[in-house]
Amino acid sequence: MKNNITFTMIKPDAMENGHAGEILSMIIKSDFQISALKLTQLSKKQAQVFYGIHRKKPFFGELVTFMSRSPIIVAVLKKKNAVEDFRKLIGSTNPDKAEKGTVRKLFATSMGENAIHGSDSADNAQIESSFFFSGREIY
Ligand code: RTP
Ligand code: MG
Repeated sequence: MKNNITFTMIKPDAMENGHAGEILSMIIKSDFQISALKLTQLSKKQAQVFYGIHRKKPFFGELVTFMSRSPIIVAVLKKKNAVEDFRKLIGSTNPDKAEKGTVRKLFATSMGENAIHGSDSADNAQIESSFFFSGREIY
């Protein structure tokens, strides 16, 4: 599968704290092209399914409550080497360990509430994009 798309969510903490505009601007300035974009809110059930891989982890309940508590912006992004480049742009899961200038260093609240999601593989980028968008909505 070609590694030229990734999927992102601007998470509830970043939305509530008014950082969505700045985060989108960082994404565009880093040469990602927006292929799909929308504002939506996850139900608890949808958050459980989306993060199903973590269902056995101790933080799963907190993660589901957090991700469903307010609207998020979801997007499909296009760029050569998209998955890897985007993970570099967002930084480590733990904002204390995130590199200077990354989205999480700048905007994350904590390890759990860390401002943004980025797909961890090309396969997951496809699966996650299809979770939110139909083929006709991806340009
Ligand atoms: P994401 O999937 O959201 O892009 O984050 P990630 O790959 O950097 O981290 P992952 O291990 O996939 O964890 C998913 C999300 O679960 C929350 N989390 N909380 N309290 C904790 O110890 C903890 N660990 C992970 C974070 O919201 C993390 O992004
Ligand atoms: Mg992950």
